[in-house]
Amino acid sequence: MAIINHFCSCLLLIFLLFMISLFGLSNAAATYNVMKYGAKADGKTDSTQAFVKTWAAACSSAQTATMYVPKGSFLLKAAVFRGPCKSRIIVQIYGTLIAPTDYWALGNSGHWILFIKVNRLEVLGGRLDAKGAGFWACRKSGKSCPVGARSITFNWANDVVISGLSSVNSQLTHLVINSCNNVAVRNVTLYAPDDSPNTDGIHVQGSTGVTITGATLMTGDDCVSIGPGTKNLYMSNIRCGPGHGVSIGSLGRAVNEAGVQNVTLTNAVFTGSDNGVRIKSWARPSTGFVTNILFQNIMMRNVENPIIINQNYCPHNQGCPNQSSGVKISQVTYKNIQGTSATAEAVTFDCSPSNPCRGIRLHDIKLTYLNKVATSSCNNIGGTSTGVVMPRSCLRS
Ligand SMILES: *[C@@H]1O[C@H](CO)[C@@H](O)[C@H](O)[C@H]1NC(C)=O
Ligand SMILES: *[C@@H]1O[C@H](CO)[C@@H](O)[C@H](O)[C@H]1NC(C)=O
Ligand SMILES: *[C@@H]1O[C@H](CO)[C@@H](O)[C@H](O)[C@H]1NC(C)=O
Repeated sequence: MAIINHFCSCLLLIFLLFMISLFGLSNAAATYNVMKYGAKADGKTDSTQAFVKTWAAACSSAQTATMYVPKGSFLLKAAVFRGPCKSRIIVQIYGTLIAPTDYWALGNSGHWILFIKVNRLEVLGGRLDAKGAGFWACRKSGKSCPVGARSITFNWANDVVISGLSSVNSQLTHLVINSCNNVAVRNVTLYAPDDSPNTDGIHVQGSTGVTITGATLMTGDDCVSIGPGTKNLYMSNIRCGPGHGVSIGSLGRAVNEAGVQNVTLTNAVFTGSDNGVRIKSWARPSTGFVTNILFQNIMMRNVENPIIINQNYCPHNQGCPNQSSGVKISQVTYKNIQGTSATAEAVTFDCSPSNPCRGIRLHDIKLTYLNKVATSSCNNIGGTSTGVVMPRSCLRS
């Protein structure tokens, strides 16, 4: 009996040791800490190569891999994180990534942090500081400047989660989602000063199934800009301003261009922004289109153009042969939009003479200017209104 007991506990012990070592080993194999690859959390030492090496190791892991960035400041130049990777990959960032103050250091790459062709990726947390002020000053001075860099870009990536990211002072756009499928952006805060040039918040283009939930966007350009080839985009709980608003466009710059379809913006607050919800196209021939759009449950606070469609975009009046946009806009619904306009004209619909907007719907709109009724204007547009619509609808069915 004693021998059997001894035998059993011995087996149990071996089993336990085996489990512990297995667990321990798999943990060690799955987490890749940038510090182990030579990163320095001092904000001064260039950690670019350390980050790229960490990524390479994580990316070739046979099991779900975490690239781990601890607290502290890490100086990074232009960094490319390329896939495909062997497994699901999580980039967990507790620290701040800072760009060199000398904007020439990012060169003409156009990107600061670039994820390319990665599937099943999560980027959790992280604070980005691109130190854009020098670059903006260069552009304003009219000196020769590099093209500039977007802070964080995802190209040809599928099944991506970006959560808890914050970014300040991007040189150009903060966050770009380009040619991706199934991307969830959650709880991001993006900041650049009101007068910083072309610092869009989030740019989505050529992508299907992007959701943006919970975003605070204070920028010098569009809070969200939506480019050609965007499909099934859902945005909720968005705070915008200062900035140029949520903009579908500019579209129709190219003759052959993919359309924008099935876009929803729901539960948004715009504060002191140049625009609220905008659709904008060049006055040029194009195959582009915009259809099946819903803007609903939106509060406007002192917004210059709360609701606007502008199809006559042609800066310097150059390159717009017929001064008419080929972009076809249809099935756009504005529902429950309230608050204050900073200009007398709260609703502006200036559609293409050759391709009038069709199927536009207004439902429960209440926008005022200096406590008075605001005005609206319509060119080349057809649609209907229901519920209380103030200013009075100028749509014709
Ligand atoms: C949002 O992200 C911040 C970090 O930027 C984090 O501290 C906070 O807990 C997150 N909130 C939610 C609700 O996830
Ligand atoms: C529109 O997009 C939503 C996601 O925002 C998606 O759930 C829905 O299926 C799409 N509708 C169509 C008709 O594709
Ligand atoms: C401009 O309009 C004319 C007449 O409507 C048309 O024949 C011509 O093809 C247009 N040009 C372009 C570049 O679209």
